[in-house]
Amino acid sequence: MDWKTLGKFTKKSIVKSCEIIERDERFIPQAVSIKYFPMAIERAEGSLVWDADGNRYIDFLTSAAVYNAGHCHPAIVEAVRAQVGKLQNYTVVYFYNDRQVRLAELLTEITPGIFQKKAAFAFSGSDGVDSAVRAARSFTGRKQILSFKDSYHGMTTVALSVTGIVGQEVKDRVCPDRNVIFAEYPDSYRNSWGIDGYADPSALSRAAMEAIETLLVKHRGDIAAVLIEPAQGDGGMIFPPKEFMQMLRKATEREGIVFIDEEVQTGMGRSGKWWAIEHFDVVPDLIVSAKALGGGMPISAIVGRADILDSVPVPLLAYTHTGHSVTCASAEATIGVIKDEQLAEKAEEKGRRLAEWFRERAKQYPFIGDIRQKGLLMGVEIVSDRKKKKPDKAMALKISWAAWERGLILITFGKDGNVLRVAPPLNIPEELFQEALEIMNAALEDAASGRVSDDILPHLKGW
Ligand SMILES: Cc1ncc(COP(=O)(O)O)c(C=O)c1O
Repeated sequence: MDWKTLGKFTKKSIVKSCEIIERDERFIPQAVSIKYFPMAIERAEGSLVWDADGNRYIDFLTSAAVYNAGHCHPAIVEAVRAQVGKLQNYTVVYFYNDRQVRLAELLTEITPGIFQKKAAFAFSGSDGVDSAVRAARSFTGRKQILSFKDSYHGMTTVALSVTGIVGQEVKDRVCPDRNVIFAEYPDSYRNSWGIDGYADPSALSRAAMEAIETLLVKHRGDIAAVLIEPAQGDGGMIFPPKEFMQMLRKATEREGIVFIDEEVQTGMGRSGKWWAIEHFDVVPDLIVSAKALGGGMPISAIVGRADILDSVPVPLLAYTHTGHSVTCASAEATIGVIKDEQLAEKAEEKGRRLAEWFRERAKQYPFIGDIRQKGLLMGVEIVSDRKKKKPDKAMALKISWAAWERGLILITFGKDGNVLRVAPPLNIPEELFQEALEIMNAALEDAASGRVSDDILPHLKGW
């Protein structure tokens, strides 16, 4: 990527960032990143980040839905400091440690379902998904996983295998696990059945379930788990109808299939509830949490039915650093902050206002095609033709670039790369929230009036 050329399109100084990017491109493999802006992050605090050149940004990405409590929250930083000076970690594979036990206790309390639960830990969303799949296979003695097209579950081998948004030909280069079946996720806005799921969620739910029932019959007795995001995040923040989720849950109960609720991106208060699955009144067997769980430290958890987790043979969930003391301390403090500062309630209130704000803008800008939101889980779909719902990735990238230029990190995602990803910290202060709205307003206008050059487009990869 030619960052120096891209630098010609911005008024801000990006000299230091460009130096870092040049070295990055020499020493870090390209597969590590999806490129957006010429920006090397140097420090962050609350809802703000600064790049290496001192440019300030309001963060509407939160490091991909990690900083629900904002960057460097004092209570989380203090918990990490206190723990790291006392005991960094001693492997729980051989001895016991109250840190991981306390976190497991807390997680079993804040997850839905009244049955005996346990929690196992790992380091990322990806290996959390691997562990959950492993537990489901071990418990059922079956091998197939029913996942969804356009889903994202991570990049370890099993997580990649169950990810729908990466093409099979790409996956085939790295020997994926082939015991995966993909079903269509019911997208109310645009789906292969041509059903308007907003107008008729029952029809969409029935169509999606019919297709899944066919798969269940075809693979009867060999499906270990259904793995589902309660909102497809990287697919473009798509929320399935409530009826569908309830029908799917019933089908898994009937067939003895483990229901894995994949909340790596959606959990920890962002949707306005602890877990997005709570919006559907569905109780899963297992929940996978990561990202925001660690408050900035790398940790994932699988929480759920003790009998399922206990079915995994020793030592198949044992990693040297599992239940790491520092990351557990950070996660415990994060849960405390989300509870004490009522961040789920804040997400609900700010999200409602943001969606309303976008609905108002949609009256002015015909390229706003769909606004999807629960709390601060939010995606705004950009289209070139509202009637035909034609995805407009170029326009979405231009809005994103214009926002960045004006000091707001607002990237794009989605199966067609045309959805604005709106994910600020849940506790963003009102004055920064207002400033972000002003920037977004100006960015929409910049893009609409042709002030963002087409020449930037070949430089922005995006999703
Ligand atoms: C829904 C979902 N699952 C899993 C993952 C993988 O998590 P990680 O990148 O921490 O391995 C992600 C990451 O974006 C995600 O959004």
